[in-house]
Amino acid sequence: MKNSAATNGMVTPDLSVKLGTVTFKNPILVASGTFGYGAEAKQWCDIEQLGGVVTKSVSWKPRMGNPPHRIIETASGMLNSIGLANVGVHTFVKEKLPYLAKFDTKIIANIAASSMEEYRDVLEHIEANAVENLAGYEINISCPNVKDGGLSFGTSVERTEELTTLLRASTDRILMIKLTPNVTSVAPFAEACERAGADAVSLINTLVGMSIDIYTHEPRLNTVTGGLSGPAIKPIALAQVYQARKACRIPVIGMGGIVTVEDAVEFFIAGADMVQVGTANFVYPDAGVRVAEGLAEFMRDQKIGKISELVNSLRVRAELKAAGW
Ligand SMILES: Cc1cc2nc3c(=O)[nH]c(=O)nc-3n(C[C@H](O)[C@H](O)[C@H](O)COP(=O)(O)O)c2cc1C
Repeated sequence: MKNSAATNGMVTPDLSVKLGTVTFKNPILVASGTFGYGAEAKQWCDIEQLGGVVTKSVSWKPRMGNPPHRIIETASGMLNSIGLANVGVHTFVKEKLPYLAKFDTKIIANIAASSMEEYRDVLEHIEANAVENLAGYEINISCPNVKDGGLSFGTSVERTEELTTLLRASTDRILMIKLTPNVTSVAPFAEACERAGADAVSLINTLVGMSIDIYTHEPRLNTVTGGLSGPAIKPIALAQVYQARKACRIPVIGMGGIVTVEDAVEFFIAGADMVQVGTANFVYPDAGVRVAEGLAEFMRDQKIGKISELVNSLRVRAELKAAGW
């Protein structure tokens, strides 16, 4: 007899996720700015094993980014002040999007801008040059290391809502707003995105951090402060995903310090419908694929048939829930 999953009585886990009308083969994406535009990682990573690729933030004009040093290693993390270096939207649609279109995976185009009009123009230019596997957009209103990088939107509930409303009118594809952790509470931001018609929120972007050379008394990053990412931020990210999940009914895409499948599972339990793997790609360029493979194995072991059974499955005691935790 054939030794198939069915004949063994084993669960064959279904990792697919539907967001709006789009079906992703699994809930693992690679995070913006940590995987380039795909070509950079291709020789080490089987891109088609990923649920999707979130591309590096793209703006209207190309940007050189900040001068070096713009990456520093910290305890269990990384500080960066790349400053949204990117090729600009015209090169993006001419070269980067067609390259990624060759792979059987979904593309989410991440957009950064310094004005409402720039966000809209970039999105509409991509929309006009869309490829078949372009699933939608992630709107970066949360970059902490450029002065005009959208954080002025991301730290104002009103501006977040206004921008989301504007962009909603320009696309029927997935519109995902990427929130910053550098606020007192993410809940009103998640609520505002839902009110304005976003399909999902993603979080977290990096936390503002710094590092100092004690012999020269100089900051280690050229921009003095930068964005902290990696395992060091995972507990903060988990808490914020949990808070966003409680605040809105639209899907939540979680990220921040995911390296292993166990990290990702914590995010699903906290309420994430999908996750993104970021800084880990600098250590293992196939980190996302490792997590996707590990997830299938974990689900088989735990006899979990569908990823949705894991999502938002945190067990909080009734009395704690009643008290608002
Ligand atoms: C070097 C670097 C560059 C990044 N560039 C972007 C970017 O262009 N746009 C964006 O939305 N997020 C960017 N991010 C943030 C990540 O996408 C992610 O939100 C954050 O790093 C937290 O996830 P992680 O801890 O898994 O890296 C960048 C992060 C790093 C480390």
